[in-house]
Amino acid sequence: MKLQAVIFDLDGVITDTAEYHYVAWKRLGEQIGIPFDREFNENLKGISRGESLERILEHGGKADAYTPEEKLELATRKNEHYASLLDSITPDDVYPGIRELLLELREQNIPAVIASASKNAPQILRALELADLFRYVVHPDSVAKGKPAPDLFLRGAEEVGAEPNACVGIEDAQAGIEAIKSAGMVAVGIGEEITLKSSGADVVLPDTSGLSLEFLRGLIE
Ligand code: BG6
Ligand code: MG
Repeated sequence: MKLQAVIFDLDGVITDTAEYHYVAWKRLGEQIGIPFDREFNENLKGISRGESLERILEHGGKADAYTPEEKLELATRKNEHYASLLDSITPDDVYPGIRELLLELREQNIPAVIASASKNAPQILRALELADLFRYVVHPDSVAKGKPAPDLFLRGAEEVGAEPNACVGIEDAQAGIEAIKSAGMVAVGIGEEITLKSSGADVVLPDTSGLSLEFLRGLIE
């Protein structure tokens, strides 16, 4: 079977914005009396803005402490801080090997797709000067369910006419790996082997420098 598409997560796969999300949520958590650490933060990776806030409130025993309007204000406050951190992003912030991989994919006419839970994805891709290298960016509001449901990945494959079992998905989050596997795709994890293997990753790399078209083809063909 031929590799038909590569479907990428964005935050923590294309660039280091997973860290910015952590910094921004952590500050909001401190402001509302819910401190948390990196271990808890693993539960937020790949999860939408609204659902992340719910998880943080639940974690702090404050699930019922805010009205919907107040929750919207909290999520907006987090996003404003996050957006201010994005201001410093330049094309130099693309993770190692990613631009090269995208260029190889384009040369071979294999679509690259973004399946991110983030509404900030288009802006980040522009700041990194990568927008032209992706055939399609799935809008998180266009699918019924976020990660770990397969919807974002399945939509990405469908939009470029690829069969799920001929796609590779690349993710740094446990919820994302689960989403790729339930979409019936091959899952490449970027990060900690034990965590991502336990979520079902077929292969885990410590960082993006080991990604190449040859490597991804080897997983499918
Ligand atoms: C995911 C991140 O990609 O996007 C999450 O892993 C984040 O941490 C989610 O909460 C939503 O992002 P945004 O930019 O729409 O708030
Ligand atoms: Mg991610």
